[in-house]
Amino acid sequence: MSQSLSARLDIDSNRVISEISPLLFSGFAEHMGRCIYDGIYDPASKQADENGLRRDVLAALRELNYRSMRYPGGNFLSGYFWEDGIGPKENRPSRRDLAWQSIESNQFGTDEFLHFCREINTEPMLGVNMGTGSIQDAANLVEYCNAPAGSRYADLRAANGQQDPYGVKYWCLGNEMDGPWQIGHLDAIEYGKKAREAAKMMRWHDNSIELVLCGSSGPQMPTYPEWDRIALELCWEHVDYHSMHYYAGNQNDDTPSYLALSADFEDFVETLEAVLRYVKAKTRSKHDVYLSWDEWNVWYKARELSDMRGGWTEAPHLIEEVYNLEDALVVAQWLNVFLRKADVLKIACIAQIVNVIAPILTRRDDLLKQSTYYPLKLFSQMASGNSLDVQVESPRYETNEYGDMPLLDVAAAHDPAAGKNTIFIVNRSLTDSIALEVHWQGVKPIRFTSAQQLAGDDPKAANSWDDPNRITPQAIYAPRIIDGSAELSLPPLSFTALGVEL
Ligand code: AHR
Repeated sequence: MSQSLSARLDIDSNRVISEISPLLFSGFAEHMGRCIYDGIYDPASKQADENGLRRDVLAALRELNYRSMRYPGGNFLSGYFWEDGIGPKENRPSRRDLAWQSIESNQFGTDEFLHFCREINTEPMLGVNMGTGSIQDAANLVEYCNAPAGSRYADLRAANGQQDPYGVKYWCLGNEMDGPWQIGHLDAIEYGKKAREAAKMMRWHDNSIELVLCGSSGPQMPTYPEWDRIALELCWEHVDYHSMHYYAGNQNDDTPSYLALSADFEDFVETLEAVLRYVKAKTRSKHDVYLSWDEWNVWYKARELSDMRGGWTEAPHLIEEVYNLEDALVVAQWLNVFLRKADVLKIACIAQIVNVIAPILTRRDDLLKQSTYYPLKLFSQMASGNSLDVQVESPRYETNEYGDMPLLDVAAAHDPAAGKNTIFIVNRSLTDSIALEVHWQGVKPIRFTSAQQLAGDDPKAANSWDDPNRITPQAIYAPRIIDGSAELSLPPLSFTALGVEL
């Protein structure tokens, strides 16, 4: 039976953790399943524009306001010949993609991707193949994208219709090279040396690029966090970011523990932050390296081998996970962690953006927004400025996995230029509403400008083609703020996003 519990939140805009990097709201698009073909690019759809990009998908992606987009993989990257995907489409070869046992037609490649990024106003983040690819291939791709016309690969780009350099700033040195499943998997020393040599050549083409080193594919890896230490020691001065990947799940159907997963997310960041400090000290460096959480999402329902094997077909249905309310609450907490760790975490890409473990599903001419679409949208549109170190006094509960945990998970931001606070709160309770007193220290707020809430009584409820709006945020009553304080009621299983004018 539901009872009312109480909690207190203190916010002080002077208690700044760090400026929030806008790149924390980024995405990842892989040549896998129906992410690219049938998702972003589908010339046969009624939704297709003159370039074959789906207008409905573009509109939904623009709403999410992704600040950068990682591409083309993922495991796909480690067997990808980027030169297959440029030039006249009729000359591009079809290849067997060994990562997902699918047929890759190469009808969408680097130029199409960079055009797509312009369409959704996002910064591209290109991966170079460190599996079957050579350091020369990696350097050639930088030349193709960023060098002025007048040399072989830059002239090829111009001949393919793009005279001016694209100026791609963010580059990933491979993908999950610590994983034995990776095509061309390397150990940490082999990878660190290869990545360092690739980085040197890539930078000699364009010294302004920023590079992301492969970190551990997850804290469950037997090589974690040694892999991170070794690769970083070999590459420290040559890279700007260190990547981390993590996929979350409720495999044991233990919702109280699942909803406490932010404990794991924080632990992962804190361990890698310690590794960064150690390596910086050991190398006596003045250079800083930050974290790039460039694959994160819920993924556990479509995890059989058969969900990941395409049977050598084009655009097979792979890992099209359906997301429910509890998944959306985990995504909201993940985004809270990004704000709370904004001092060390500068990039985060949800994996992936369409159809493949994605907030958006498509079928021939329709699009469905899943539950996880909404926390992403609220954070991406609202969180700006500085993240704040808030103080929360919350009732607690017992979990099997993480012991005693607070029922509330909170993050907040202050944007001095816009004169606003934003507050994001997850109530993890399955049964209890919580009466929350909010107190602002220092600057007194004027009023709530928006109050949106995603909530429900069934953690397994999901949007579907027949019921597309089952889990959507609702505008809730926002109380008056009197003398720097307000009281809100947070229902069980809820995520609330508040905008406040200061
Ligand atoms: O996003 C799906 C896959 O998960 C990616 O290709 C890979 O990097 C990770 O293991």
